[in-house]
Amino acid sequence: MNTYEELREHLRAERCTWLVTGVAGFIGSNLLETLLKLDQSVVGLDNFATGYRRNFDQVEGIVTAEQWERFCFVEGDIRKLDDCRTACAGVDYVLHQAALGSVPRSLEDPITTNASNIDGFLNMLVAARDANVKRFVYAASSSTYGDHPGLPKVEDRIGNPLSPYAVTKQVNEQYADVFARAYGFRTIGLRYFNIFGPRQDPNGAYAAVVPKWTAAMMAGEPVWINGDGETSRDFCYVANAVQANLLAATATSEEATNQVYNVAVGDRTTLNELFEAIRVLLAPRFKHLVDFKPSYRDFRAGDVRHSLADVTKARTLLGYEPSHRIGEGLREAMDWYVADVGGK
Ligand SMILES: NC(=O)c1ccc[n+]([C@@H]2O[C@H](COP(=O)([O-])OP(=O)(O)OC[C@H]3O[C@@H](n4cnc5c(N)ncnc54)[C@H](O)[C@@H]3O)[C@@H](O)[C@H]2O)c1
Repeated sequence: MNTYEELREHLRAERCTWLVTGVAGFIGSNLLETLLKLDQSVVGLDNFATGYRRNFDQVEGIVTAEQWERFCFVEGDIRKLDDCRTACAGVDYVLHQAALGSVPRSLEDPITTNASNIDGFLNMLVAARDANVKRFVYAASSSTYGDHPGLPKVEDRIGNPLSPYAVTKQVNEQYADVFARAYGFRTIGLRYFNIFGPRQDPNGAYAAVVPKWTAAMMAGEPVWINGDGETSRDFCYVANAVQANLLAATATSEEATNQVYNVAVGDRTTLNELFEAIRVLLAPRFKHLVDFKPSYRDFRAGDVRHSLADVTKARTLLGYEPSHRIGEGLREAMDWYVADVGGK
């Protein structure tokens, strides 16, 4: 039995209360689903800036009625300290996911991104500290590596941020670090690398590449690749991110806390390879994709050329063992997109 299996067994026997911020979003709703399936009590906080009530409907349809009753939703905004305090009351573990994602969004509107990602983050830290939660786990980002040329990315070697979004995620880490030193508060940051999976939004100007391309391919619309397609990323299925959150929240060793960890698989996939992998999975169900080709355009400002994680630290200190590599993750994600988005 690996560390995550042991943890799930332990949680099934002992109910804790978890706060998931950003619970109506992609990663947040996947955390909600897993925690409820483990018979945990979950408080959720969201203002629906980029999340959806339909994500709740979907989770409700997957878990039992009894499990669903253990979910308590607070509609609120992390930019308001009182909302954060309400949500933190009586909570054991905080999994802080609420933020405005997307590098391009932050380049267009840095002020709004800053308000949720820095002011909101600080409010959550203060509220969680005052509520004496056991651990504050938060969504950090691979964008923190910025212009550092090293590959694979190792936690202690970061560069200068390349976007306002990346600044906010670096500042989160600095605040978490200061709260550990100044107040003895226990935090863990998870630097997510291109997470994908069910309920990731395919719509809107700031959609991520996997859902955007999947929806475009199903609809027979052009798929645009920025640059030559040899840009590469470490695509990580959402189940791996959920695992990392649960392990981080419950890790008992002193050495493991007040740290940041890469959350990825450690595999490098180019955009050309990603296009082909999605096309091959969808082609049996969408005949127009049999000879489908991508369209190429200029590189996008602010994008780094290659991103690949070293996940040794999470493996060693948290017992993290990714359950899905990209192929397995894409298969599960495509089934969901075909069932959920394809029919609409
Ligand atoms: N998806 C990825 O690949 C990825 C990569 C790196 C980091 N992250 C981080 O992971 C977290 C979750 O991302 P996601 O992909 O699930 O995005 P998402 O947009 O689906 O979820 C974010 C959720 O936060 C909520 N939210 C935003 N501002 C809020 C506010 N002021 N008050 C309350 N709720 C608010 C949104 O309504 C949404 O439900 C974010 O912090 C993001 O920066 C994601």
